[in-house]
Amino acid sequence: MLGLHVYEERRRRLRASLPDNALAIVAAAHEVIRNRDAEYPFRQSSDFWYLTGFTEPDAVLVMAPNQPDRLFVRPRDPNQEVWTGRRLGPERVHAHLGIDEGYPLDALPGHLAELLADVSWLEYPFACPFSTQVVDTALKARASRSRRHDLLSHRVDLSRHLHQSRMIKSREEVDLMRDAGAISARGHIAAMEQCAPGMTEDQLASIVEHTFRMQGSPAVAYQTIVGGGDNACILHYIDRSDRLVSGDLVLIDAGCEVEGYAGDITRTFPVNGQFTTPQAELYDLVLAAQTEALNEMRVGKTIKCFHQAALRTLTQGLIDLKIIKGSLEEALETKQYLPYYMHGTGHFLGLDVHDVGAYEEQKEPITLTAGMVITCEPGLYVSKRSDAPARYRGTGIRIEDDVLITAKGPEVLTGLVPKERDQIEALMRGA
Ligand code: GLY
Ligand code: MN
Ligand code: MN
Repeated sequence: MLGLHVYEERRRRLRASLPDNALAIVAAAHEVIRNRDAEYPFRQSSDFWYLTGFTEPDAVLVMAPNQPDRLFVRPRDPNQEVWTGRRLGPERVHAHLGIDEGYPLDALPGHLAELLADVSWLEYPFACPFSTQVVDTALKARASRSRRHDLLSHRVDLSRHLHQSRMIKSREEVDLMRDAGAISARGHIAAMEQCAPGMTEDQLASIVEHTFRMQGSPAVAYQTIVGGGDNACILHYIDRSDRLVSGDLVLIDAGCEVEGYAGDITRTFPVNGQFTTPQAELYDLVLAAQTEALNEMRVGKTIKCFHQAALRTLTQGLIDLKIIKGSLEEALETKQYLPYYMHGTGHFLGLDVHDVGAYEEQKEPITLTAGMVITCEPGLYVSKRSDAPARYRGTGIRIEDDVLITAKGPEVLTGLVPKERDQIEALMRGA
C-alpha cells in the first residue's frame, strides 16, 4: 500500500472539486461467485482502490465537503473470518487507512438518509454498478420518505475529475509502474530462456506467470496471451491450447500487477530460437515502426502523432515487401494496411490495463503530458487466410512497451526484456 498521505491527497482533491451541497459515493467491488462456494479471484474496483487503498470487497466511501470522510466496511465477525479470511472492521479504519471515520456496512442506509436529506448534487462513478446500486437504493428510500423530488437537481459522473487525476501518474505511482514493468519483463525473459518446440502455449504462459509470482507480483493485469504461428494473429487469443511448433514465431502479451498497477508487454520470438528470413523481414519492420512511434511520444505532441508514425512505417514496409500495392499516400488513404494492422498503437496504462483517461477533447486528440503512461505496441498480423505472399503467412508479430511521458522525452519502463533480433537469439541460445 502507498503511504496514507497519498490516498488522503487524492480524496482532498476530489473533495475540493465538489460544490458545497454535494455528496460523493464510491463503492468497492463485490466478490463474484464462480459456482457454489467458489469465487473468482477478487479484484478491487480501481476508482475505490485509488481513493482508499482498501482491498476488501463490500465497502462504500462517502464524502462531502466540510464533513469527515466515512468508510463503511464489513464488520469483524470471528465465525465468518474463520471461513473467508481476516477483515479490517470499522474500528481499525482510521488507524489503518487514515480515513476519518469507519462504520459497519449496515449503518450505511441510516447515514445516507441523513446526508441525502438536503443534498442537491450527487456524484458517483456512473460506470460502476456497485456505486449505482448504492445510490439507487438510497434515492428510492428517500423518495418513499419525502415528496420533495425536486431536491436532487444534479446527478454527476464522479469519473470526470477522478479519471483526469488517474491519467497523470504521481512519483509514487511511477515507482510502482516501474516495478510492474521490471517484473513483467522478467516473465518474458524466462519465457524466452525456457521456450522449446512441443511445449504447449499454456505451459509457456505458466513460466511467465510463475516468474511474476516468484518476483512478488500476486496477479496478472489481464489474461496472458500466448499464441504460436497463426494463433498470434488473434489479438486477444487466450485459448493457449496448441503446441508450439519449431519454425513458427510465438507471441506473448503478458503483464503483472504491482499494488494494482499494470505492466503490459508483448514480445514475439522464434519457438526454436532462430528467426527465418521472412520472419526477420516482418519483425524488423514492426521494430522500426515502434522506434518511429516512440520518438513521437513527447510532451506537446498529440496522441495521434505516434500512431501515424507507426502506420506510415508499417505501410511503407508492407509496400516494400510486396504485401500491399500502390504509393504510400494512396495506401494510407485507402487504409490498405488494415488487414495486417487493425488496432491502435497505444493506450493509457495504470490501475486498469486499458486505463481511464480521455483520448479526445472536443473531438481533438489530446496532447501528451508529463506523467502519462502509455503503451507503444505496433504489430503486423499476416494470417494464413491473407492475400500476402505465402512465405509471410501464419505470422503475427507485436512489440509492446510501457512508456512514461516526461519533459525529457519518452522513458521506456519495460526495457529490461530484449527486442532486437540478435539479442533475443543470443538469450535463447543461453549466450
Ligand atoms: N494486453 C492488452 C493490450 O495490449 O492491449
Ligand atoms: Mn497494450
Ligand atoms: Mn498487451
